[in-house]
Amino acid sequence: MGARVRVSARVSGSVSGSVSDSVGASGSAGETNGLTGGGGISRLRRMADPVSQELFARASKVIPGGVNSPVRAFRAVGGEPIFIKEARGPILVGADGTEYIDYIGSWGPMILGHARPEVVSAIQRAAEKGSSYGAPTEAEIAMAERIRDAVPSMEMSRLVSSGTEATMGALRVARGFTGRDLIVKCIGGYHGGADYLLVKGGSGLATLGEPDSAGVPPAIAGTTAVVPYNDPYALELLFNERGDEIAAVIFEPVAGNMGCIPPDPVWLDALRTQTQNHGALLICDEVMTGFRVAWGGAQALYDIRPDLTCLGKIIGGGLPVGAYGGRADIMEKVAPVGPVYQAGTLSGNPLAVAAGLQTLELLLRPGVYEDLEHKGDQVQALIEQHAGAVGVPVTVQRVGSMLTAFFRAKPIRNWDEAADTDREAFGRWHAALLKNGAYWPPSQFEAAFISLAHDADALAKTGGAFEAAFAAL
Ligand SMILES: Cc1ncc(COP(=O)(O)O)c(C=O)c1O
Repeated sequence: MGARVRVSARVSGSVSGSVSDSVGASGSAGETNGLTGGGGISRLRRMADPVSQELFARASKVIPGGVNSPVRAFRAVGGEPIFIKEARGPILVGADGTEYIDYIGSWGPMILGHARPEVVSAIQRAAEKGSSYGAPTEAEIAMAERIRDAVPSMEMSRLVSSGTEATMGALRVARGFTGRDLIVKCIGGYHGGADYLLVKGGSGLATLGEPDSAGVPPAIAGTTAVVPYNDPYALELLFNERGDEIAAVIFEPVAGNMGCIPPDPVWLDALRTQTQNHGALLICDEVMTGFRVAWGGAQALYDIRPDLTCLGKIIGGGLPVGAYGGRADIMEKVAPVGPVYQAGTLSGNPLAVAAGLQTLELLLRPGVYEDLEHKGDQVQALIEQHAGAVGVPVTVQRVGSMLTAFFRAKPIRNWDEAADTDREAFGRWHAALLKNGAYWPPSQFEAAFISLAHDADALAKTGGAFEAAFAAL
């Protein structure tokens, strides 16, 4: 448990990458936003299989853009979405029956692989007892205890139904606890779809947020300030200027929504010191990294002690869930014990809790995180080997089983550097991977996820797909 995971950023290839098109600054946002999704690389537009094409045409008449979350539309890689009819282990099965090795894992939750029998049975058993009561259950206590034992900073927690709800809850309680309004996030960081989190930063070290989406009133975006990721000086500057207005800094301990970017130790120190010195709270958004990069999340890996933490994805085992929690004195401000209101009809849903508890139970088995690290290392090595063989400049950044192949020769530490990648080449690579049976996230700014179900056969097939895709560039 809490296995030390190798953090790596290795560069392969020889020539330097190039900037292609411009993108928004809020990152791409795991299965969400595709705040960048409206643009895309249209000249690369390619067709999906005929069955998916037909479904997409039908969907586009009744669902905006034909999808229920923008990144699924494939706009960032200039294609059309492939519709999925089922999944098992490491495999997604397209609507036309084509099989793909899956590197999205539902954008993080499917760390065990798809349709893991123990999880399926847990959901079935729970469903037979009724799918929602609107009253407390013992399983919710077991989940809060499990979370507290794995993530000791989460002395108390509240279950909600999505990562977005978790960050909204955490930020409201941070504002309620401190009596301050201003929140700070990182440029390129993504924390869900709340109005005040959909902001981008302009140039300069630290700027006031501007809306990154239509429908967000500037006055609301103005309650958020942004700083570049991994930039302790910008953070210090902001705290020197406005420290007494800041309720909280929310950050991804490993950035995953501008591609995978590990944190610098000085950045983590600055986050803790600045917030502590100025009476602000530190909120670690582990919706993506929680139980992914280590049992206990990134805070166990990097020895961070935040005031509040947000979870989601893995703790629901593929069903809708989120959680926020932290210091008991802060969480006791939440209703009904405290004045900070937050509620949810399906919060602590019995099916989601059953799937989550079973998933965590399986993640507790010895050697699980070592196995994930080993698989991650293998995928990284395959990318580097095949990129290197044809001289394509790629930098693979990885923490355990989450990684990104950045099409650029130098490591990436923040949003500006992530934007300085060859996204046309990435789009072509993505299309070639799909053609060769590997389903990679359809955006340069998304992390790919590996599951325990990625066995030797899946990895061998993936190697073949990488080889063909790099050769085709
Ligand atoms: C770090 C982080 N926070 C919050 C969210 C929002 O979670 P959800 O999509 O479940 O609302 C995401 C989604 O990808 C995320 O990656």
